[in-house]
Amino acid sequence: MTLLTWEPEYSVGIEGVDFEHREMIEMLNALYEETRHRMDPDAIDQFLGEIHATISAHFALEECVMRKFDYDEYEAHKDDHEELLDQIRELMDIFARDPEGGVSLLRERLSAWFSVHFSTFDSRLHGKLDMSRH
Ligand SMILES: [Fe+2]
Ligand SMILES: [Fe+2]
Repeated sequence: MTLLTWEPEYSVGIEGVDFEHREMIEMLNALYEETRHRMDPDAIDQFLGEIHATISAHFALEECVMRKFDYDEYEAHKDDHEELLDQIRELMDIFARDPEGGVSLLRERLSAWFSVHFSTFDSRLHGKLDMSRH
């Protein structure tokens, strides 16, 4: 069983962005698999560090493009990114002291965040600004 499944409505219509979004989903699924099989704290810690770095870089790129184009929903979109990064940091803290609690946060909150963010904030942003051209 995987945690997150790519859905056609997540597509923002720009190959590079869809690729990065799929990559983020794959990383979270790999982390979820890891937690289901052996719960190796070092491996989980490493996964979380990589996920945080990949997602931060993706958000920084989107925010840079939004500022460049004076995007009207910049604040709300950036706030939602901050919310996810907070959740990932919280996940790292919880995993360190309570791996089971960390898994439920991963399963319930992160999967919901991705499906909502991709199909709302990101689809509006990328629909308005074709990031592949900038
Ligand atoms: Fe995105
Ligand atoms: Fe976004």
